[in-house]
Amino acid sequence: MPPSKENLVRPVLLVNIAQLLTLRSGQSGPRRGSQLRELGLIENGAVLCGNGKIISVGTTSQALRDPWIKRNRTRVAEIDCSGKVVLPGFVDAHTHPAFLEPRLIDFERRIVGATYEEIAVSGGGIRSSVDTVRRAKRKELADSVLRGLRGLASHGTTTVEAKSGYGLSLEAELKSLEAIRSAALLWPGTVVPTLLGAHVVPHELQDRPKEYVQLVCEQMIPTAAKRKLARFVDVFCDRGAFDEEDSLKIMQAGRHHGFRLRVHISQLTRTSLERLLALQPTSLDHLDHVNDEDISLLARSETIATLVPGANYFLGVRHYPPARKLIDAGAAVALATDYNPGSSPVSSMPFVLSLASTQMRMTPAEGIAAATINGAHSLGLASRKGSIEPGKDADLALFDLSDHREIAYWVGKDSSSAVIAGGELITHPNPAVS
Ligand code: NIG
Ligand code: FE
Repeated sequence: MPPSKENLVRPVLLVNIAQLLTLRSGQSGPRRGSQLRELGLIENGAVLCGNGKIISVGTTSQALRDPWIKRNRTRVAEIDCSGKVVLPGFVDAHTHPAFLEPRLIDFERRIVGATYEEIAVSGGGIRSSVDTVRRAKRKELADSVLRGLRGLASHGTTTVEAKSGYGLSLEAELKSLEAIRSAALLWPGTVVPTLLGAHVVPHELQDRPKEYVQLVCEQMIPTAAKRKLARFVDVFCDRGAFDEEDSLKIMQAGRHHGFRLRVHISQLTRTSLERLLALQPTSLDHLDHVNDEDISLLARSETIATLVPGANYFLGVRHYPPARKLIDAGAAVALATDYNPGSSPVSSMPFVLSLASTQMRMTPAEGIAAATINGAHSLGLASRKGSIEPGKDADLALFDLSDHREIAYWVGKDSSSAVIAGGELITHPNPAVS
């Protein structure tokens, strides 16, 4: 059922929240080590939002004693959150929504034994999503992005990083970023666009990869910068995509043009993180094949380790990123869906939290912090997103559960009843507004 929307111009007051996870803390940096388990839990909580921002946070009895709330109770939209868990809307810091079609041929080939890399080499994979994107009108692509964003929101997500990367030409990459921008305008959540022109080398330049790197560095990045179409530049640095030298060139070009950086790294094979970290990327993503040296370099850096276990699950890769080691060493870990048509057609952050707990030994609390406040750090948005504190954006996720650990516990059960994004209520099937 499509979500119904109600634009709440009135202030909104959530009361009787069984468990309110504020994620507030005194610190300004990302959560590391045991800090990742501190959820700032308030029982029988209340949150007041107005003008798209959080105004106050506390217990329901504190809220109902508040003189302003007492005077204005009739003009406030009150939501009874009895039997619900409320937390910051998930911040999904890694998605690829600018595509048109699912990759069902790849899916079936993998089921009968082909690997992700074998499929890519034989004409499937990322390149097989390119033709439809190149042919599509911007509006068609924007509609598809918007469907993706709505799907993510239906599981509790209110902030999404959205990459281009299935156009692989100047025109089609810019069109993808424009489509992301158009979709973002129609979605109440927040979208952070990323140029991933360096996803793979397109088939027409397969024998001349350096020419493509030049196109990315000298045309795509400068044009995207001039037109303010993206905030990040990303590159897929791995076997079959871009080698370390070319990835560093692309990162340098991105940095030169004022972009923040993120990199798909060590998903299929290991690359030492040393030279990449020297360019201070905001995030390094995937990290399936990091070794102890990489882990200690990451732990000493400001870079967020954004893990996407949905890709391991969907590709049937039994080896997951070493989340436990990363956290215990002091790296700042975030979780994201990697929503895309090839390796992770996953919209559900609760499913990612389930994978994080069952496959990577992250506790439910660590998963929640990684998918909220550390997701916000992964996007450089922690001053606005990722915790429920006065002055931050009114981005909340409401779950029909009485204990937050159930978010990761129930597998494939959709318990997200609504999100509030920038103060706007988007209910999924059962609205609870009185
Ligand atoms: O994050 N690894 C590279 N990019 C995506 C896959 C994209 C695709 O297969 O379409 C990923 O897994
Ligand atoms: Fe990805």
